[in-house]
Amino acid sequence: MAKPKVFATHRLFDPARSLLAAKFEVDYWEQPERPPRAEVLKRVAGAQALICLLTEKINDELLDAAPGLRIVANVAVGFDNIDVAACSKRKIVATNTPGVLDETTADFAWTLLMCVARRIREGEKLARSGQWRGWNLDQLCGGDIWGKTLGLLGFGRIGRAVARRAAGFNMRVLYNDAERAPAEAEKELRAEFVERDRLLAEADFISLHVPLMAETRHLMSTASFAKMKPTAYLINTSRGPVVDEAALVAALEAKKIAGAALDVYEREPEIHVGLMQRNDVVLAPHIASASVETRSKMAVMAASNVVARFDGQRPPNALNPEVA
Ligand code: DGY
Repeated sequence: MAKPKVFATHRLFDPARSLLAAKFEVDYWEQPERPPRAEVLKRVAGAQALICLLTEKINDELLDAAPGLRIVANVAVGFDNIDVAACSKRKIVATNTPGVLDETTADFAWTLLMCVARRIREGEKLARSGQWRGWNLDQLCGGDIWGKTLGLLGFGRIGRAVARRAAGFNMRVLYNDAERAPAEAEKELRAEFVERDRLLAEADFISLHVPLMAETRHLMSTASFAKMKPTAYLINTSRGPVVDEAALVAALEAKKIAGAALDVYEREPEIHVGLMQRNDVVLAPHIASASVETRSKMAVMAASNVVARFDGQRPPNALNPEVA
């Protein structure tokens, strides 16, 4: 019997490839850059499964081009690139990769937080410049982290992993989320649920951990920045459009906030020109989950969802389980 065809828009990692090898005929996009849209549409046409990255838009256009598809497995936890309703309409299961990247992403949110507070961008530049004249008392003084207030917008798995790390810095933790966490979680993480405006006004570091949805688009707007302390920093490892980048640039320019550290952008891979040269901004290219271990686990998870679909089981990470 012919093996089902999978189109993977990335070469994935060896453990994921091994999982797929026996059961599927897999067409991998092997180039280092992301595939052009036309290529994706062409290669997905005859496939029964698609393994894609968050850079691929899974919409009516793509689904119409692939009438045999039974599953779209995203190698990412965020799935704002997938029109899940459009998949459901066609009885296509859509899956994501929750859980495996929480700790790695939380590590990186902290990396960004510390880099911006302690002025690593400027320090690195100076250290490499050949212009450093030695220690000086007021050289590159940043803001303290320990003992400060951390504000988490979004208190799901990643927000909580970020909160857990705050204990080591003896920080006060405030959070806001559409749903309040169980009392045990609040107690364990020493986190206090507060209204969003209070969090904006009291936090020294605001870290974003919400999914991108209509309700969270431009959650950080001119009005939000106006409520923050002038000494506060914004950290974003969630999704770019959660922050109104033009409003952020204006807030930094007017010194309404002290700085920002960003891993994600409104129009990736484009970055607002007003952010590019600023010393009070740390920029990373969407790498919060980018450890070898975690990215490999994400690829395996996506592959396992595909295997489950063709083994007649409900894929463990189905976003529309009613279809499976
Ligand atoms: C995700 O998984 O949604 C991240 O943005 C990439 O790891």
